[in-house]
Amino acid sequence: MTYRTLEQVDLRGKRALVRVDFNVPVQDGVISDDTRLRAALPTIAALRKGGAKVILISHFDRPKGKRVPSMSLKPVVEPLAKLIGAPVAFADDCVGEVAERAEGYLHPGDVLLLENLRYHAGEEANDPAFAQQLAALGDIYVDDAFSAAHRAHASTEAIAHILPAYAGESMRRELTALDKALGHPERPVLGIVGGSKVSTKLELLGHLVTKLDRLAIGGGMANTFLHAQGWEVGASYCEKELADTAREIMREAGRNHCELLLPIDIVVGERLEPGAPARVRGLGELDEHERILDAGPQTVGRLIHAMDESKTLIWNGPLGVFEIPPFDKATLAVARHAAERAQAGKLVAVAGGGDTVAALHAAGVADQLTFVSTAGGAFLEWMEGKALPGVQALNK
Ligand code: 3PG
Repeated sequence: MTYRTLEQVDLRGKRALVRVDFNVPVQDGVISDDTRLRAALPTIAALRKGGAKVILISHFDRPKGKRVPSMSLKPVVEPLAKLIGAPVAFADDCVGEVAERAEGYLHPGDVLLLENLRYHAGEEANDPAFAQQLAALGDIYVDDAFSAAHRAHASTEAIAHILPAYAGESMRRELTALDKALGHPERPVLGIVGGSKVSTKLELLGHLVTKLDRLAIGGGMANTFLHAQGWEVGASYCEKELADTAREIMREAGRNHCELLLPIDIVVGERLEPGAPARVRGLGELDEHERILDAGPQTVGRLIHAMDESKTLIWNGPLGVFEIPPFDKATLAVARHAAERAQAGKLVAVAGGGDTVAALHAAGVADQLTFVSTAGGAFLEWMEGKALPGVQALNK
């Protein structure tokens, strides 16, 4: 697909309505992770440099069309102003008189943040009338929120058909990296998919086996595959009712010449708490009260070897219960090796999803992969091969 970028427009004096995703984690009114604020900085800087008036719009949490005070975007203002190094004005509503008045005060280079889009039901309904109200605030529309692009909402979809629409810098970087990882990758391509539930990642696995040369399955969902192959899984988390589905995915992988890498050894424990005793076992070698909580060292060794043989890696989901050491070993080892290969220029390593990003932080390598997506749900839907409405709407 092709989309317009900001280099293609004379920004001087223009009102740029910028869809960002400031749906950031907040604890007691304080932002605990500002990655998504930082992601918006290049676009904000480019617009200010070009002399545009910058009007930021975002959702926050899920207020479902009502004004829920705890879901205000106000706590974002100060941290954002610090990051930009300039004041950020705030308007108490994202449309109507309040927003229009605040916008009227702007000079070229100024930045205004509008209140939560989802205070209005029209946002999630992709309501054309609400999109028109938003559009009245801008001369151009810039979408810099890849992580919200799986939602067909007024601020991500309808508005792109009203105002001249451009991809912001963060959106452009996401789309370029994702295309390099799955659209037009350098082969061989290795995928790693972990996490607990096969049931939430069925479409993902089904799509990936048609695209990748190798797919490693880890985390709790690997237990379902091991069970489907006839291995004992003791008291492990396992979706036994999905055994047939797992077998069908294995057959589909075979038909598409995608090699599936399932665990070849396991780390088991009885208790899931920090410092709990952990034992390395062969497949099936666990007592009925033991649980599989991480991948074993041979599995990790084979994954590292697979990375060394690959040119591209796409990763979503941890391999074990990485939040609770000692069950973090496999995930951390794989994260560090991916970072090492990426830094050496030997591997295009792309990762995404909330748990995966947390694991990369825990391994101390979040900034060392080729690209780490800021998206959760959008990254997964994109990995499933789905068209994202917010991206489609930018197609020229
Ligand atoms: C996210 O955090 O994944 C995005 O901001 C989308 O949020 P939503 O799932 O509430 O639409």
